[in-house]
Amino acid sequence: MCGIVGYIGPRQAAGLLIEGLRRMEYRGYDSSGIAVVNGTGLKIMKSAGKLSALEQQLDGGMPSGTLGIGHTRWATHGAPTTPNAHPHTDQSGHIAVIHNGIIENAGAIRKMLQQRGHTFRSETDTEVLAHLIGELYRGSLEEAVAAALREVDGAYGLAIISEDEPGVLVAARKGSPLLVGVGEDEWFVASDASPLLEHTRSVVYLDDGEMAVLSRDGYRIRTLETAQIEKPVNQIEWDLTTIERGGYAHFMLKEICEQPESLQNTLRGHLLEEEGTSRVSGLNLSDDDLKGIERIVITACGTSWHSALIGEYMLEEMARIPVEVEYASEFRYRNPVIDERTLVIGISQSGETADTLAAIREAKLRGARTVGLVNVVGSTIAREVDGGLYLHAGPEVGVASTKAFTSQVAALALVTLRIARLRDLSILQGREFIHALQALPGQIQEILNRSADVERIAERFTDTTNALYLGRGVNFPAALEGALKMKEISYIHAEGYPAAEMKHGPIALIDENMPVVFIAPHDAVHQKIVSNIEEVKARGGRIIALVNDGDAEIERLADATFTIPTTLDLLSPILTIIPLQLFSYYVAVRRGCNVDQPRNLAKSVTVE
Ligand code: AGP
Repeated sequence: MCGIVGYIGPRQAAGLLIEGLRRMEYRGYDSSGIAVVNGTGLKIMKSAGKLSALEQQLDGGMPSGTLGIGHTRWATHGAPTTPNAHPHTDQSGHIAVIHNGIIENAGAIRKMLQQRGHTFRSETDTEVLAHLIGELYRGSLEEAVAAALREVDGAYGLAIISEDEPGVLVAARKGSPLLVGVGEDEWFVASDASPLLEHTRSVVYLDDGEMAVLSRDGYRIRTLETAQIEKPVNQIEWDLTTIERGGYAHFMLKEICEQPESLQNTLRGHLLEEEGTSRVSGLNLSDDDLKGIERIVITACGTSWHSALIGEYMLEEMARIPVEVEYASEFRYRNPVIDERTLVIGISQSGETADTLAAIREAKLRGARTVGLVNVVGSTIAREVDGGLYLHAGPEVGVASTKAFTSQVAALALVTLRIARLRDLSILQGREFIHALQALPGQIQEILNRSADVERIAERFTDTTNALYLGRGVNFPAALEGALKMKEISYIHAEGYPAAEMKHGPIALIDENMPVVFIAPHDAVHQKIVSNIEEVKARGGRIIALVNDGDAEIERLADATFTIPTTLDLLSPILTIIPLQLFSYYVAVRRGCNVDQPRNLAKSVTVE
């Protein structure tokens, strides 16, 4: 997520800003920049890529000045290019703005300003806001900012400076965190506490609708309407590491718990309830193109391959299109039968996985249309496919993929819905699917609220050396994903299997030392899985079962059960995977494993 830092005081600002931005690198970003007021004007330096690219620009010497702002950008709208990097200036070039959030009515404001002769250099909503502030400037930066914010809709965390007011730094918050750091005769603003800790632990947290006006002899908190309000000064108790994880013990737990929000962000703007369909214009495929698809190949690796398997069930069940799911590492070396009537979907959180990238290039070479379901904006796969959907799940720092998985399944649901409604799916079925999707974030939160129940189950299985994960239908891929989570962070040998397959070999493994996790929602094959549970029970296996509320039959058979809310069968993996993510996390923590950076693993496998 984007990072904001600002400074006003007796010291040179540039170095402090760069150091502050470095403290926020963990948030994930793809461009950065600073603006400093240096007595003769406004000096802006910015660059795509990592902070090191910005620092190369500064090698020629840091701009002097004791007032400045800095930003790291995680691109959501507008590619991660230097022109799109923050800070952005107004038409006059005297006012610099950095911004976290989204200005929803930026398009209309851009048009209005263009009619007044404004010209824009970027694709960003932030530049529009800078121009609006400039347009409303009548000698007071804080009043111009207040006036502009009364005209915008959306979410923002802002820091603004002007070369015409070298003793003022204005900040504002609505929907995106911002706090003021109170130092010794120096003041800071930041999007989280991490860049402040080395300077001060005294902070003022802004609330939505509030502004801060920092000057060289103090700060004042106000709202858009009132000139001053009183706010308490708080002391930061957390250490730097805890702050970077948002108060969670590990990035993985933070990202598991972000899934209500990340799923909402994936779905945002794509659900067309009236028509019972989805908007997926990013695929760059017309409805006629989508109707003309005869076959779909989904290619990916690891967790992304598991979400692809769920996509196969969705697309074949709802859109009635034959689908094949291919390991990218296999696909790229096979001689696959694909042509221009085949749609190849590449799924990748990082957008940089070498095998998936190679598979997509192979598919393009053979004339297939390619789309990507990717989290990292501007990544190689996102740039090379013919179209796609960004997951908007936010940076995923933990090596074990969690929120990206549920967002990938949601993105596959959006693609499925669009195609299915062009074929046999009725408007009512489409609306039912949409309502189920809309309910998922709240249902995930309901599961997360009962994390302690999962932790208690994990305590009983910390010393196990093996585990089987069994599921049927669309929850067979969920079993694979749950097993992968356990494997990769706790180093327990866990295997996922279709529940019915157990009889064809793995049942030989069952004894009192073998925990068996059953994913058993009340779906179309529920009774079948009850039989599988009885087979394991009869051989002394220890059974952990994920069930819907009131499943007394399985609760009687299992050693431990965890209930999950009810949703449509095809969407149930988005819910069943949550307790499995938590289960692997709690077991791994108890085993003293490095949860965020497991041994031997990389977050993005950019080599074969
Ligand atoms: C999942 O927990 C792993 N980190 C790994 O399997 C990952 O899903 C795989 O390497 C694919 O990565 P991608 O989604 O970035 O392409």
